[in-house]
Amino acid sequence: MERLQKVIAHAGIASRRKAEELIKEGKVTVNGKTINELGVKVTGTDRIEVNGVKIEREEPVYFLLYKPRGVISASEDDKGRKVVTDFFEEVQQRIYPIGRLDYDTSGLLLLTNDGEFANLLMHPRYEVDKVYVAKVKGIPPKETLKKLERGIQLEDGKTAPAKVKMLSLDKRKQTSIIQLTIHEGRNRQVRRMLEAIGHEVLKLKREEYGFLNLHGLRTGDARELTPHEVKRLRAMAAHGKTTF
Ligand code: URA
Repeated sequence: MERLQKVIAHAGIASRRKAEELIKEGKVTVNGKTINELGVKVTGTDRIEVNGVKIEREEPVYFLLYKPRGVISASEDDKGRKVVTDFFEEVQQRIYPIGRLDYDTSGLLLLTNDGEFANLLMHPRYEVDKVYVAKVKGIPPKETLKKLERGIQLEDGKTAPAKVKMLSLDKRKQTSIIQLTIHEGRNRQVRRMLEAIGHEVLKLKREEYGFLNLHGLRTGDARELTPHEVKRLRAMAAHGKTTF
C-alpha cells in the first residue's frame, strides 16, 4: 500500500506537492471514485486517473550507491547541498534512498522508485543486517563492547543485540576501528550506541547491507542491482532473515 500522492509523483507527472493539490482539487479518481482528501492509500492493482487520464506506473528500478561523505540522503535539499540522486542524473525515474545514511557517513545505500520494496526493507520487523565500520576515539575494553552486544539503553529505547568486533587499534593515537552489525535502522543509531559507551565516532562507513557489499566500487560509484539481488532482498526481508 502506498500513498496516492506518492504514486502520482512516481508516475512522473507531478511533484508530490502538485499531486496533493490535484487530489484536493478533485482531479484524481481511484477505481472510478473521486478522491479529494489526502491520506488515501492504493495498491498496485488500483486504477488511478488524473484529469480523466490513466496513469502508468514507472518501471521499477533498483540501484546501489557507494555514498561519499558530505552528501544528503534525499532527492532534494532546500539548502542546495549535494544529494544522493545527483549521482543518477541519467536515470529518468524518480528514485529516492531506502533509509538514510548521515551526511557525514559514507557507504552502501540503496535507491529505488519502488515504494513497496522500500517499505519492506525499512520495516522494523524485517530489517536486514547492516555492517558498519567506525573509527572511534579511545580504546574500548572487551567488557564495554559486550554491552553493545547485549543491547544498550538509548533515549528511544533499548537497542537489539548487535554483533561487535574490534578490527584494530592505535595505542599511540588512542583510536580504534570497530565493526558493528545491527539490523535496526534508528536515526544515528551507530553513533549514538558508541557514544553511549563513551567513544565518540570520528568516521563511519556502512560496508554491507544484507548480502550486498561495496566490492569493486569506489566512493561515488553506483550500479544497478541485478534482478536476482532484488529477489533475494525481498525474500530476506519477508523472512526476517539475518546474516548472523
Ligand atoms: N548509524 C549512524 O549513526 N549513522 C548512519 O548514517 C547510519 C547508522
